[in-house]
Amino acid sequence: MKLSRSLALLAATFASVPSTLAWGSVGHEIVATIAQVYLHPSTLANVCEILHPGYKLQLWPPCHLSRVASWADQVKRSPQYRYTSAMHYVGALGDHPSETCLFPGARGWAGKRDVNVLGAVRNMTEVLVGYIDGYYEQSTMEDAVKFLIHYMGDMHMPLHLTGRERGGNGARVTFDGRVTNLHSLWDSLLISKSLRTIPSNYTRRFPHGSTSIELEPHLRDTIYDPYIRRVMWEGMGVGKAPGRFEAEAFEWLNCPEKAQADYGLWDAMQSTLGLRAAADEERWDDDVLCPFAWGKELHKLNCDLPVWPAELDLPPYNETRINSGDRDDDYDHDEHLDDFFSRPPRPHPDLLELDTPEYSGKIYGEWVVERLMAMAGIRLAGILNGLFMDAGGPDDACDLPMILV
Ligand SMILES: *[C@@H]1O[C@H](CO)[C@@H](O)[C@H](O)[C@H]1NC(C)=O
Ligand SMILES: *[C@@H]1O[C@H](CO)[C@@H](O)[C@H](O)[C@H]1NC(C)=O
Ligand SMILES: *[C@@H]1O[C@H](CO)[C@@H](O)[C@H](O)[C@H]1NC(C)=O
Repeated sequence: MKLSRSLALLAATFASVPSTLAWGSVGHEIVATIAQVYLHPSTLANVCEILHPGYKLQLWPPCHLSRVASWADQVKRSPQYRYTSAMHYVGALGDHPSETCLFPGARGWAGKRDVNVLGAVRNMTEVLVGYIDGYYEQSTMEDAVKFLIHYMGDMHMPLHLTGRERGGNGARVTFDGRVTNLHSLWDSLLISKSLRTIPSNYTRRFPHGSTSIELEPHLRDTIYDPYIRRVMWEGMGVGKAPGRFEAEAFEWLNCPEKAQADYGLWDAMQSTLGLRAAADEERWDDDVLCPFAWGKELHKLNCDLPVWPAELDLPPYNETRINSGDRDDDYDHDEHLDDFFSRPPRPHPDLLELDTPEYSGKIYGEWVVERLMAMAGIRLAGILNGLFMDAGGPDDACDLPMILV
């Protein structure tokens, strides 16, 4: 290889390391990295072959799912992929957390049938099954893998599961005295602030053999590596001490048995007539992949935690905000957060401050975001192992806990 070419490749490698300009993508990359840690080696090789045809022969370029984790956001405004922009979220009509929590209510979902994050997780998985059976082109498959990696991240961000104020994009608040909105806070600022305060023992690599599963080969020297090390060590318990979510993580892959009784004849008839997409939920879920059942649990965070502080609906904060019930078909992303914490704080008496012990303190104390990252990663790994682990490996391809040990 000519030197100039290898330098260009090197430059490209560094260019793809997220800069502080791209905080919004960090959550997705963390999820993808955690998933990769839990992939069976044959799954990883097969997924990498889809992302980089020829990979298995040369093991090049180095394969990291985190590199493609934000692609779906980058293309959603392009003409070719414009149709996917509504697949990043879902919202029930009438959902207004924390006052009213619907998932869905009597009026069903906003938007076109199936064109939302839950339908898209189902659809992308079906596309991948179809490809394995030889129905689709490699490029379709590549897109589907990238979409699936991204949508599994979106699905675990509670604000992607409610339509209130465009998933919180319209809910202006302050964080550490600086103006932002609820969506950006959850997308980026909570993670960003954690990264600034992470104990220094996570900035060093874990020595080979010090963890129950190898982590370091899946990291790529990014600013968020310490965050992943901490989630894996203290959350997933890959070190000596038990992790906070170690026990429950075994259940994250479970799906409830399908409750046929929930869907009466009336619902079925209405949905056949297209009056209400009542049976969507039923179509999205089965016994091994259940985006709706998972989403329903995750959506509760909007009400219970709460993601949505009740103060937003009370004076003085309700007087200064416009509560439009409409959903834009797109989320704003937080392109300008690079200098968020370097801006001087300013008093904003009309906006609710959320960097408080009751709000961010609770979220940090209960490891809410870390848990969502781990859960999304484990579920993504479970789906990919189920689809792509070579036969002849351990029997039950979907049995991630087996791979955990
Ligand atoms: C499912 O995915 C296929 C392939 O990307 C796409 O053509 C189709 O429109 C999708 N369907 C829905 C309902 O999203
Ligand atoms: C890092 O330090 C924290 C205490 O600040 C401790 O609980 C944790 O176990 C340490 N992690 C490692 C990997 O040593
Ligand atoms: C704000 O809440 C108060 C108390 O519930 C209510 O009287 C008032 O009408 C609300 N204002 C707006 C603009 O919704």
